[in-house]
Amino acid sequence: MEFTIKTATPEKFRAGILVAGAFADGALPAPTAVLDKAADGRIAALIKRGDLDEKAGSTLLLHELPGAAAERVLLVSLGKAEDFGDKAYRDALGAAAKALSASAAKDAGVLLADTDMAARTLDWRLQQAARILADGAYRFDAPKSGKDAKKERGAKKVTLLIAGKVSAALETAVRRGQAIAEGMALAKDLGNQAGNVCTPTHLAHTAQALGKHFKFDVDVLDRDDIEKLGMGSFLSVARGSHEPPKFIVMHYKGGRSKAKPVVLVGKGITFDTGGISLKPGAEMDEMKFDMCGAASVLGTFKAIARMGLPINVVGILPATENMPGGRATKPGDVVTSMSGQTIEILNTDAEGRLILCDALTYAERFKPACVIDIATLTGACVVALGKIPSGLLANDDELAAELLRRGTDSGDRAWQLPLWEEYQELLKSNFADMGNIGGRYAGTITAACFLARFAKSYKWAHLDIAGTAWVSGDAKGATGRPVPLLSEFLIGRADGKAG
Ligand code: BES
Ligand code: MN
Ligand code: ZN
Repeated sequence: MEFTIKTATPEKFRAGILVAGAFADGALPAPTAVLDKAADGRIAALIKRGDLDEKAGSTLLLHELPGAAAERVLLVSLGKAEDFGDKAYRDALGAAAKALSASAAKDAGVLLADTDMAARTLDWRLQQAARILADGAYRFDAPKSGKDAKKERGAKKVTLLIAGKVSAALETAVRRGQAIAEGMALAKDLGNQAGNVCTPTHLAHTAQALGKHFKFDVDVLDRDDIEKLGMGSFLSVARGSHEPPKFIVMHYKGGRSKAKPVVLVGKGITFDTGGISLKPGAEMDEMKFDMCGAASVLGTFKAIARMGLPINVVGILPATENMPGGRATKPGDVVTSMSGQTIEILNTDAEGRLILCDALTYAERFKPACVIDIATLTGACVVALGKIPSGLLANDDELAAELLRRGTDSGDRAWQLPLWEEYQELLKSNFADMGNIGGRYAGTITAACFLARFAKSYKWAHLDIAGTAWVSGDAKGATGRPVPLLSEFLIGRADGKAG
């Protein structure tokens, strides 16, 4: 999708479709009022008649509106004026995105960003608009045969219309939104890919291709190198699989050479069968999404590289399958992690933490400003929080607060759970320094407690994206989350705003 910002008179804008907002009580934001005037009050009359549902995001498509140069006008409800905020604005954009992607119109004008909001700037509104509209055009090129496999449809050229002057800052906001959508698209593509296609080797190739294109360094460590580093915990997960494991490290250097990097660690289990503690068969196909943490790091790298963000970021992706097999790790096996701490593997299905702990130890060498790991780690997180926020746990409250705030700003929210010392005792083992599971209760917290033991030497936060990385059912597919949250976090850091 191609974006331009333009100062324009709404009624004269020529395009296949023009998107205009309207409040539920019939009040019209400035640009829609102009359009309504040119149409002799037709819009106000339709709303009065009740043709546009009140709920934010409801739409009404008008053809050949008198006085308007656009072929079609899509009216989008902004909900009640007194409730208008982030959610209603995003719902309206989401509806517009859906309509644009299905429309026969080739080009579009969008007036929505020109709606005043008490708490949000025009920059913010434009960045959100670009991101949500571009993301709405995402299609997974599924390997389907037949003639409807690839049908091109939808508006490709979008003009964001504003009343005031176009400035460099506004252009930056739109580019950022677009870059984030591009990062999400990469994360979604990787997640949606079948497990026999998106292997650890495929993740490594993707990282290398990104590095080549955007000129940043990528190291891919193979089994021998991983063994030499002493990552006994990571390798214990890879034992049951015939797919070679990969330990992928990306170095994006946009900042000053001495500036400490932010380190992002992404869980890259390209298929999670559970191992010898085999999962039940129902919906096991969805365990191809168990690499969405790694995919979100790759997506975020694509976004920040596209933006040319002045910041240093290291990405670490431990990648392997978790399979049962003759050489697979068995319940009761004891392994030694890179940190030297020993682990009794009581359940081979709690494998995410086993690959992440060695990556967290590896992260120490970068003397990080902070480390954030992203993982589809626990089913318990979906039980606790559902599929709305990602779970957030941290050993530093300021870092947690910063992430919560960037979640709200980006609309890709997280919710914090406690990481109290009292939970640590649930991990005790009779045969090693710790077990890899904590029993029936507080599964998301005990998983984070396990990781915390490997993240003591820096500020660290953990995002459990088990509920947010993909959706099930008819619309089954990866969401690209938390690329918006991570990108917004890094933008904030690059702009010099930590809080
Ligand atoms: N990848 C799963 C977590 C998961 C399960 C994410 C379902 C999304 C939906 C993870 O490796 C896992 O299997 N976790 C176990 C941990 C348990 C054995 C302590 C779980 O959540 O059941
Ligand atoms: Mn598992
Ligand atoms: Zn898993």
